[in-house]
Amino acid sequence: MTNAVSSLGVMLVSSRVLEDIDWVGYVDWTVRDFHGYNTPRGATYNAYLVRDEKTALIDTVKAPFAEELLKNISALTELSAVDYVVCNHAEPDHAGALPRVMTALPAATLVCNEKCLAALSGHFDISGWKTHLVATGDSIRLGKRTLQFLDTPMLHWPESMFTFVPEERLLFSMDAFGQHYATSRRFDDQVSWQTALQEAKTYYANIVMPYGKQVATALQQAEELNVKMIAPSHGVIWRSHVHKICEAYQNWSAQRPEPKVLVMYDTMWDSTGQMARAIHEGASTADVDALLIHIRSSDLTRIATEVLDAAAIAFGSSTLNREMMPMASAVLTYLKGLRPLGKVGLAFGSYGWGKGGPDSVNECLKAMKWEIIRDTLKAQYRPTSEILNTCREAGKTLAAKALEMAADHPGSVGAKR
Ligand code: FEO
Repeated sequence: MTNAVSSLGVMLVSSRVLEDIDWVGYVDWTVRDFHGYNTPRGATYNAYLVRDEKTALIDTVKAPFAEELLKNISALTELSAVDYVVCNHAEPDHAGALPRVMTALPAATLVCNEKCLAALSGHFDISGWKTHLVATGDSIRLGKRTLQFLDTPMLHWPESMFTFVPEERLLFSMDAFGQHYATSRRFDDQVSWQTALQEAKTYYANIVMPYGKQVATALQQAEELNVKMIAPSHGVIWRSHVHKICEAYQNWSAQRPEPKVLVMYDTMWDSTGQMARAIHEGASTADVDALLIHIRSSDLTRIATEVLDAAAIAFGSSTLNREMMPMASAVLTYLKGLRPLGKVGLAFGSYGWGKGGPDSVNECLKAMKWEIIRDTLKAQYRPTSEILNTCREAGKTLAAKALEMAADHPGSVGAKR
């Protein structure tokens, strides 16, 4: 990493990616809530400057950090020397600073695809901007380097696009391969692999999971391009672990099941809690990763991440006003949108004078097309020892299913252990 000194003598962060290709983004150390996604490690909004006979800025940052981005650019070149601003994605964490940037870079032409321009015009007044539309297969020659464009719809919005520099085999992959991970380091080999992988997994589960087919297509394209370095719009740049992160993406996009049983629940007076612990106890007798999550002691971000590779999931709720508990409902609504596929499921829970909670859960699991292993397990007021024994047996069945599913998917990480 190099530090540049601005004309004002202020030391600015500017990271060299390759010769004349620099990171000029913003590290957001304090953000903890990214539109509902918990970000305990903060985030980065990556933007890159490619300097050649022509100079191109690849993406911008969130609107409040526009001046930081401009300072980082200024430390490397005159603002008037920037010829192109490539917008790979119109979401405001990357395009929010565009109005300020397009004003500050008087010579710049905005480069994006047609859908992106439509999205940007819905967010901003773009009437004064010079624009140049591109689509898959188009390219712009900067000098000794070229920018090639590749539409990647739904990664993560319909207008999303990759930009590739063939001379360096460098892929600006936008949200794909990203992580919400604030760090002063810019590369995967400068941080813990486990941390980078965990944050990439969390990001995949919470942002990318619904678009597995599109990810599979993008991975195929990346392979055809023989990509050597992946520079996403969030987190560290992959240069030493490109193969490993692509392999992880392949597993996640296929939603390959791990030998893992997730028991999650919400409970009022611990009847559903007792059932959850009994199911977990049964699952724990097998050689699986058995997790027990009390929904109100956890959060949506962690839950989605654990769901991503769990083969089997037991979901429980007490009954409140003839419905499931509100946070149980929030989790299922969130999961429904993320579309976790190929799970084995079980609904369980307690009720008093009016049924509803566990039955509502079961309907939600069925709506997600999960394979339901048995009738909903229910207990009135308190689970009897017989019901708890049935819960234990159900836990064992879930674990056996999880082992079977993982064995049927030898590509899964768990199957290799
Ligand atoms: Fe990082 Fe879809 O924006």
